[in-house]
Order: sequence, then C-alpha cells, then structure tokens
Amino acid sequence: MIDIFHDFYRGKRVLVTGHTGFKGSWLSIWLHELGAEVIGVAQDPFTERDNFVLSGIGQRIKADIRADIRDGERIKEIFRQYQRDCVPSGSPAFGTSEL
Ligand SMILES: NC(=O)c1ccc[n+]([C@@H]2O[C@H](COP(=O)([O-])OP(=O)(O)OC[C@H]3O[C@@H](n4cnc5c(N)ncnc54)[C@H](O)[C@@H]3O)[C@@H](O)[C@H]2O)c1
Repeated sequence: MIDIFHDFYRGKRVLVTGHTGFKGSWLSIWLHELGAEVIGVAQDPFTERDNFVLSGIGQRIKADIRADIRDGERIKEIFRQYQRDCVPSGSPAFGTSEL
C-alpha cells in the first residue's frame, strides 16, 4: 500500500462513530490497515449483508461498542474509558464540535 499518510495513523487510537454503517465500516477498515487502534461506537448493523458484517472488521478492531450517541452519559463514559487521539464520524447528527 502506498503510504500517503506517512504513518500518521500508526499506533493512534481513533474513535469512529457509526462504524457498523457503510462509510464508518470502510473508514474502520482503512484506519485498521494504516495501523490505527480503532474504537467503534454505533448501533447494530442493519443486515447480515452489510459491509461491517461481511468484512469481519468488528473482530479486528480494538473495541466494537454498541451505544446510542444521543446518550451523553454513555458517550462520556466511553470517552473516559478509551482515551483517543481523534474522532472521525460515520454516523448522522454527530458533529466534531460536540466532542
Ligand atoms: N451498511 C452497508 O453495508 C451499506 C451497503 C450499501 C449501501 N448502504 C447505504 O449507504 C447509505 C449511506 O451510508 P452511511 O454510512 O451514510 O449510513 P449507514 O446507515 O450505513 O450508517 C450509519 C451509521 O450510524 C450509526 N448510527 C445511526 N444513528 C445512531 C445513533 N443514534 N447512535 C449510534 N450510532 C448511530 C449506525 O449504527 C451506522 O453505524 C445508506 O443509505 C445505506 O443504506 C449501506
């Protein structure tokens, strides 16, 4: 793989919201390939044919967490438990200004 990121993500802990969805699952796959520790936070995948399920990425990432991002206390608890370096989002209604 051509390393256009110059190992920026290697060893970084990245919390991805919506990692069971389409964009989030691909983002998780790429971040994992780039050497990041991915912490995924989302609801269950919709179907057994979703990219998240078929790719098996849930078994390769550091943590595969089910939570509702509207539940502020739960999200704060996850952020406390998993100190992260950055937080890209694949889930709707979750701006980085709220982090
Ligand atoms: N998932 C797939 O593999 C797949 C495959 C082909 C097409 N698509 C389509 O692609 C389109 C765009 O994909 P997308 O990635 O923008 O959306 P998506 O619906 O695939 O993913 C949204 C993500 O946000 C999460 N999410 C939503 N509300 C949440 C909440 N309150 N708390 C926590 N997590 C929450 C979901 O659990 C999911 O992980 C969708 O319309 C979908 O139907 C998906």
